[in-house]
Amino acid sequence: MKEIKIETVLQVYDTVDELPRDVQDLMLKAVESRRNAYAPYSKFNVGAALLLDNGVIVSGSNQENASYPSGLCAERTAIYYAGANYPETALLKMAISATSQNKPTLSPIPPCGACRQAIAEYEVKQNKPIEIYFMGETGKVAMSKSLENLLPFIFDKSAL
Ligand code: THU
Repeated sequence: MKEIKIETVLQVYDTVDELPRDVQDLMLKAVESRRNAYAPYSKFNVGAALLLDNGVIVSGSNQENASYPSGLCAERTAIYYAGANYPETALLKMAISATSQNKPTLSPIPPCGACRQAIAEYEVKQNKPIEIYFMGETGKVAMSKSLENLLPFIFDKSAL
């Protein structure tokens, strides 16, 4: 028997103001997109913004449904839009912001497991890391230099 230890690294910025300029703009887009969330059931609004290699920014927000599983998270709304409309363009950076209509959300909110899997697909597809920045409604911003840090032991096409 052999034990395998996996370590992961995140960067944490104290505020949005500490972020590189382009990421501040990206996070602002995520915050703006959060307002377009359709979240009457969870009352939890999430916005995601993606910077593409051609300079375009695409954004998305969570879209819920009375049939709960039919809804979709903000991150996947954004990344599938990018995949559908810019299939040949690499995805460089993603910013995510989440806020609850019920309580303050002041610590970074990471993407859910399903969204990590979706982001992983595009990282593998483009063979280039996607930087991921996530925060609550404000406050500290956590950053992962690659999706790999958020999802060790990913399932990808190499298994098929
Ligand atoms: N949600 C996201 O948009 N992204 C995540 O990574 C986590 C959860 C949404 C889904 C649902 O509309 C609401 O937040 C509560 O789970």
